[in-house]
Amino acid sequence: MEKKEMIYEGKAKKVYRTEDPYELIVDYKDDATAFNGQKKGQIAGKGAVNNTMSNIMFGILEEKGVPTHLVKQISERETLVRAVDILPLEVIIRNVSAGSFAKRYGVEEGILFDEPTFEFSYKNDDLGDPLMVESHALALKLATKEDIEVIRKYALTVNEEMKKFFLEANLRLIDFKLEFGRDRETGKIILADEISPDTCRLWDVDTGEKMDKDRFRRDLGNLEETYRAVLERVKEKA
Ligand code: TMP
Repeated sequence: MEKKEMIYEGKAKKVYRTEDPYELIVDYKDDATAFNGQKKGQIAGKGAVNNTMSNIMFGILEEKGVPTHLVKQISERETLVRAVDILPLEVIIRNVSAGSFAKRYGVEEGILFDEPTFEFSYKNDDLGDPLMVESHALALKLATKEDIEVIRKYALTVNEEMKKFFLEANLRLIDFKLEFGRDRETGKIILADEISPDTCRLWDVDTGEKMDKDRFRRDLGNLEETYRAVLERVKEKA
């Protein structure tokens, strides 16, 4: 599939048109940002890791009944995906307190929840992706009730399957962010964006070591090594 002009450039990926209006090529960058782009850097090899890891995860999830945008990986950094209109809602699932949850409620990180939590952020960089309750998403017509029910069902399945999978790789799935889109051809809601150490918190089961983008956010070092190690563990168990 031939790469035509770039139609979008985000913080971590570029998106290109192809000759098929219903398929796009995503090209993963090594750029890393945090705090809504205020902190900027590069993690060598991150693009290749996130691309490959995300495709492995999406392949597993497809088998478990979660439709995704994945068509096929075409190079280390590039993947052919279904064209979607991304819903401007970041879907966040948490199993253990960390990050903005710990900060918002003034609790320590590492509290295991009885049930996963489910929340939305409004995907809007100008506003800093604020937390959004469901009725506000409905009021602004960002999604329908049916969309939200489908998204909740898929997101909880993703959590159950990924928790099991990562545990086999000796990683605890603390929390993660998903983005869904509407397939431009079929109109169906499918999982899009990526599943990677940029979008998940993963802690080593034995040591509790952070093996995700918090190493960049918090200047913990060993960035390249950590991303590579996560991919190695994932590949071993896939
Ligand atoms: P948070 O604790 O900062 O709200 O992050 C929750 C999860 O979402 C964590 O796994 C990191 C991920 N995340 C993103 O993928 N993109 C973002 O812009 C933010 C803020 C978090």
